[in-house]
Amino acid sequence: MFKLTNKRIILGVTGGIAAYKSAELVRRLQDQGAQVRVVMTPGAEEFVRPLTMQALSGHPVFTGLLDEKAEAGMGHIELAKWGDLLLIAPASADFIANMVHGRADSLLGAIYLATPALVSVAPAMNHEMWKHPATSDNVDTLRDRQVHVIGPDSGIQACGDIGPGRMVGPEIIVDQISEFFKTGELQGIHVVITAGPTREALDPVRYVSNYSSGKMGYAIASAAIDAGALVTLISGPVNLIEPEGCKFLSVVSAEEMLSAVLEVSESAHIFIGAAAVSDYKIESVSEEKIKSNDETLTLTLRKSPDIIQSVAKKYEQLFVVGFAAESNNLEGYAKEKLEKKGLDAIIANDISRSDIGFNSDSNEVSWIDKNSSLIFSKRSKTQLARDIIQQILKSFHHNR
Ligand SMILES: Cc1cc2nc3c(=O)[nH]c(=O)nc-3n(C[C@H](O)[C@H](O)[C@H](O)COP(=O)(O)O)c2cc1C
Repeated sequence: MFKLTNKRIILGVTGGIAAYKSAELVRRLQDQGAQVRVVMTPGAEEFVRPLTMQALSGHPVFTGLLDEKAEAGMGHIELAKWGDLLLIAPASADFIANMVHGRADSLLGAIYLATPALVSVAPAMNHEMWKHPATSDNVDTLRDRQVHVIGPDSGIQACGDIGPGRMVGPEIIVDQISEFFKTGELQGIHVVITAGPTREALDPVRYVSNYSSGKMGYAIASAAIDAGALVTLISGPVNLIEPEGCKFLSVVSAEEMLSAVLEVSESAHIFIGAAAVSDYKIESVSEEKIKSNDETLTLTLRKSPDIIQSVAKKYEQLFVVGFAAESNNLEGYAKEKLEKKGLDAIIANDISRSDIGFNSDSNEVSWIDKNSSLIFSKRSKTQLARDIIQQILKSFHHNR
């Protein structure tokens, strides 16, 4: 079972002997399904070559802060927003001190200050450095700021001394960070999620569909699993790996999705409709492949069942969250949908923007419920999914 499927990890490497272990760490993170981007401090480059990390991660390594070329690609703020976790391993005494003081004179320091992601450090240093009150105070300060500290281990050190300060092994780091993603807040709650597009057949080889990638729904499913929920993910056809730890149902058409939803939602507490369901289906599907002899072809479309409205009506106990993908009058249409369909909350998505939404890895959405409305500014879909789960949790308990 993969522990870190689709999680985006920025691996910060700082200047210490243990930097060589980061090479293995990259591999282990990737083996568990994570996407990894490596950032090295100038100190780290004295110990391992960026080329090694580039070859292992399969991506260019980020090093300099004031690098025009790198900024023109994925700039440092963009990289900071990309990550779900900033893992600094090894974390030198010097870099820990820099974090405490909020220094942004290195790329990694700037990313630490700019990232909304979880932050974790795996310190590695000589045992006297580790035990020094300056380092102890610094580590305590980071802990107070919700930075997860992994290790260090005790044992023989590179310098020959014995004591605490060795970086913990890559396999233990991987185990510990996969635990950070688990919050357990939805323990005992059954969440049904729909994701992806639906396909409406025209004939045996053609269909009508839409551009939905399913990424948002899958990210929400992963976030709900991490929160300890019992998750049923009902998915249309997508090119994504199904998240571990959920009941997975694969469907094609809107009608199939509706029957799967109605069947599993009886015992559910929360329903999140993130699928882009075809609003219309072909009225009469041709049994034979339609010939292409004619200049024009007229198709009659008939309204498909409204899944979210049906489920909200049938199961009144459900806390129902819908998505509204709109290209104009976002909030107006979203509010209309909320009321008309009897939803508890709606997440509105501006699909007219090319940098977010369909197929993109990031999104910016508005959350609208009966009492409030708020904006989740642009962030990775994984991070957004975690924030959405938190918001659902608040409203769900408030409504109970
Ligand atoms: C051979 C050698 C090994 C070092 N090992 C460590 C170490 O394991 N941990 C540490 O905190 N500093 C270590 N240092 C000191 C750091 O490399 C130094 O503080 C550097 O400025 C750290 O840079 P950075 O934190 O920006 O990456 C070592 C220095 C040398 C010369």
